[in-house]
Amino acid sequence: MPEPLVVATNVQKSFRHMGRTLDVLRGVDLQIHDGEMVGIVGPSGAGKSTLLHCIGTLDIPTRGSIRLAGEEIMALSGARLADLRNRSIGFVFQFHHLLPEFNALENVMMPGMVQGMPRPRLETKARALLEEVGLASRISHRPGELSGGEQQRVALARALLLEPKLLLADEPTGNLDSATSDQIHDLFFAINKQRGTTIVVVTHNPALAGSMPRVVTLRDGRVEKDERRDVDHRTSTQQAVEPAPGAS
Ligand SMILES: Nc1ncnc2c1ncn2[C@@H]1O[C@H](COP(=O)(O)OP(=O)(O)OP(=O)(O)O)[C@@H](O)[C@H]1O
Ligand SMILES: [Mg+2]
Repeated sequence: MPEPLVVATNVQKSFRHMGRTLDVLRGVDLQIHDGEMVGIVGPSGAGKSTLLHCIGTLDIPTRGSIRLAGEEIMALSGARLADLRNRSIGFVFQFHHLLPEFNALENVMMPGMVQGMPRPRLETKARALLEEVGLASRISHRPGELSGGEQQRVALARALLLEPKLLLADEPTGNLDSATSDQIHDLFFAINKQRGTTIVVVTHNPALAGSMPRVVTLRDGRVEKDERRDVDHRTSTQQAVEPAPGAS
């Protein structure tokens, strides 16, 4: 069997703050296989974002090991890490961090522009992605001319531009209403199913956590629970168009 996409072993992370050491991750062991969909839950301050940042190479553990697609990230230089991150990881955060002066299409193209990829190819791809997230009619809108849910869908399209194996999301629907959150959740499931992208989502949303095939609970910097279950996820749209029992 191939090595899991993510192998975190005894990951510890401490911060120095005002002369004191704060042990935030206290030995996390976690393996995530290619194509999995994992929710990370737990109380505020448990270390969820810190763990996600470590897995995403945005932060480096104090001790322990993280192997990503077979590479030990602790052994990589800053430039190699950035390269690995750009090639393999897409991020979606609670606040989308879109560039306000650029329109939706340009924002989605941005990760490829930074890589110096040819513009026509990027544009075709970005258009297709915006269509996939249901925003074909909003490509020329700037972030300030989009709703919160639309902005988050642009951020999702941007995260997918370079076809990452791993998509990491930190409370992606934390500031959206429940109907809009459902749309974004459906997109995550569709992306996982259609592209085989491995998705890790930190969430406080019980509906999203409840629909995930695997849920990892962090508490006080450790994995408290790691549960897998059979879920028959159907998108809310599908559920909405299904006739009620007995109707014909
Ligand atoms: N750079 C830092 N310096 C000092 N302390 C930090 C730093 N980053 C995070 N912490 C502390 O680490 C703890 C865990 O933070 P983290 O952001 O991982 O929590 P979380 O589980 O994501 O919480 P939430 O659900 O509120 O987002 C918090 O108590 C936080 O104050
Ligand atoms: Mg957090």
